[in-house]
Amino acid sequence: MKHNFPHLFQPITVRGVTVRNRIVSTAHDTNMAVDHLPSQAHVDYHEARARGGVGLIVMEANSVHPTAEIHGSCIHAYLPEAVEGFRMVSERVHAHGAKMIVQLAHQGVHVNFHKNLTPAWGVSEVPSVWEREIPHVMSRAEIAELIAFYGKSVANVMAGGMDGVEISAGHSYLPAQFLSPWYNRRTDEYGGNLANRMRFLVEVLQVARPIIGDQRLLGVRLSGEELTDFGMKVEDTIEIARSIEKLGLVDYLSISTGSMHTRHLIVPTMALQPGYQLPTTVQVKREVSLPIIGVGRVIRPEIAEETIAAGIADLVGMTRALIADPNLAREAEQGVAEEIRPCIGVNQACRERFFLGKSISCTVNPHAGRERKLAPPPTSARKTVLVAGGGPSGLQAAIVLASRGHEVSLHEASGSLGGQVRMAGLLPGRGPIASLTEHLELLARRKGVRINLESRVDAAMVQASGADVVIVASGSKPRAFPFPEYLGARAIAVGEARVRTLWDAVNGQVEGKRVLVVDEIGRYEGAGAAELLAELGHQVTMCTSMPVVASRLQVTGDYPLIMARLLKKGAVLHPLHLLEDVKAGAAVLAHVHARDQKLRLHGIDEIVFVCGNHPDDGLYQELVRERGDFDLHLIGDANAPRGLDEAIYEAEVVAQRVGVN
Ligand SMILES: Cc1cc2nc3c(=O)[nH]c(=O)nc-3n(C[C@H](O)[C@H](O)[C@H](O)COP(=O)(O)OP(=O)(O)OC[C@H]3O[C@@H](n4cnc5c(N)ncnc54)[C@H](O)[C@@H]3O)c2cc1C
Ligand SMILES: Cc1cc2nc3c(=O)[nH]c(=O)nc-3n(C[C@H](O)[C@H](O)[C@H](O)COP(=O)(O)O)c2cc1C
Ligand code: SF4
Repeated sequence: MKHNFPHLFQPITVRGVTVRNRIVSTAHDTNMAVDHLPSQAHVDYHEARARGGVGLIVMEANSVHPTAEIHGSCIHAYLPEAVEGFRMVSERVHAHGAKMIVQLAHQGVHVNFHKNLTPAWGVSEVPSVWEREIPHVMSRAEIAELIAFYGKSVANVMAGGMDGVEISAGHSYLPAQFLSPWYNRRTDEYGGNLANRMRFLVEVLQVARPIIGDQRLLGVRLSGEELTDFGMKVEDTIEIARSIEKLGLVDYLSISTGSMHTRHLIVPTMALQPGYQLPTTVQVKREVSLPIIGVGRVIRPEIAEETIAAGIADLVGMTRALIADPNLAREAEQGVAEEIRPCIGVNQACRERFFLGKSISCTVNPHAGRERKLAPPPTSARKTVLVAGGGPSGLQAAIVLASRGHEVSLHEASGSLGGQVRMAGLLPGRGPIASLTEHLELLARRKGVRINLESRVDAAMVQASGADVVIVASGSKPRAFPFPEYLGARAIAVGEARVRTLWDAVNGQVEGKRVLVVDEIGRYEGAGAAELLAELGHQVTMCTSMPVVASRLQVTGDYPLIMARLLKKGAVLHPLHLLEDVKAGAAVLAHVHARDQKLRLHGIDEIVFVCGNHPDDGLYQELVRERGDFDLHLIGDANAPRGLDEAIYEAEVVAQRVGVN
């Protein structure tokens, strides 16, 4: 045995279905459906993870009824045409030895008219915290119709060759709305005591079981805790789990946490510790004998092994870990676990892209969701390549190039690798982001990249190197003050206040007591810098011309957590306000929609501008001018200063084309 994970790689058999190991990709929306049917992208995506050794895949939440369009590109499992799609996916997954189940879901009130062209169907007259539409309260006949549609959907999934079905009864989806006294205020036999509130779920299970038969699986996903004052607690979940077990219809339980009110805790960023949901999971596990799938930022096989060994769960969801590295299971089993590309928990290319309506991918793994598009063409000629810059884009390019047989030397001007990621990891709670650099460095060295630190590339060095290909990945620097362009604001006069950049804030160069952070990007950098300064004892005020401070963190799920921390640390937030100038000791902010409405902030000593970077592309421009005898490429922030997703994606694409005819 090459590995140290005896429990993780122990097969498990449930109702005659043998799963080869305990690693699960739990359900996650991909936005890959075409015309609401499984697509080639689904096949490629799940096949990659099956090939990489995962034991069990649970396919994303599929909608079960025309009132259940979960999102614009979800699969409609109730359509007969879905069978062929399920078959395409299940065949490819089975070909690699993994098992596959489909999750069936109805969002109940958490849809809107424009998704379904019907009112949302609710258990009671309680609207969605997201959609804010008063729902249509389901009649008994409509409940019966829904249950029949669950049956149709189960039948389609099974006809598509899948190994079973999982009913989503957590995360405030419809079955959970029936279970919850908050959503369920009915006075008929579907409301009131727990037996009544469970009736809907039980009827769904009763319809599903005979269709599934004795040789394939029926699972239920529950939220162990809904993590609100008014939601379900673990004691409620235990009672429900015990009742489900007694029915004898169900083969496993998958325990998550969170609800639509605490959505950021279902799929949290790195702000939450690895394994954060498991303390709840084990409480349920102790009370039932059904196999349990546990989940929650289990990003390393060591944590998964410990989880199984300690009897916390029987199988472990490593969902985003598998998005980040589809070969995680194989690498762990083959004794090269240190090569697993780490999920850094930024929730950008996965969760953010999902909310933007785009097919999911991964910040650190651009192949995720683009398996076909980024399938590397064969290398036809070996090249010598010089990479200038050891940030994430330079490192990724070097790794891909070296893996493809090219001779690569990477030069980094500073004394260490990682570029701006080093600073990103210094923001409070953002340490895990730095694991990306460690991983990229390890891979680069293993692949034979020659790494030269404190080696600033200039045009003369390039000419002397005789490289066939030069890739400039020299990154970016904070933009020079002033910034006149946001919403047509004129150049800002800052009077006696000192002007600082994001980098100054991160590197401890802000000294004044009262600091104004002007964030016109809305990503983690601004809010993270404000938090860092507040932690260091500065009095922090933040303004942005956008309607919400740190607006882009709403889709990553960072927003509720960082806002709570910022406010607790005394930060004052002014959305919809532009900094106009600093006059007579006061920073003057104007309301974006009524410029004559001013706020005066007295005694501001320093202003930290988080207003984007300027490309550090001097080397590239010089090389363009000199037109040497080599192919020249510009990638990452040096191309246009954005973020990690773009830097790593561009590196991958450019590096794949080198040496291809
Ligand atoms: C505090 C902070 C927080 C951030 N948080 C996030 C986040 O949450 N999510 C996100 O997506 N992005 C974030 N970013 C942005 C992200 O880090 C950058 O977009 C990314 O690092 C760009 O990668 P890059 O390799 O193109 O450039 P860089 O990371 O800038 O690396 C360029 C490297 O090239 C070197 N170099 C420059 N010139 C030369 C030369 N002539 N010769 C040799 N070497 C040279 C530099 O020293 C540097 O190491 C953050 C940035 C900061 C500063
Ligand atoms: C983009 C995305 C979509 C998700 N969609 C679903 C879903 O359809 N059904 C579900 O039960 N959980 C869904 N989840 C939650 C995951 O199944 C899992 O519980 C969560 O990501 C935490 O596990 P992890 O830390 O291993 O990623 C989703 C997660 C992500 C990242
Ligand atoms: S985008 Fe970030 S959180 Fe999502 S899977 Fe990739 S590394 Fe993990």
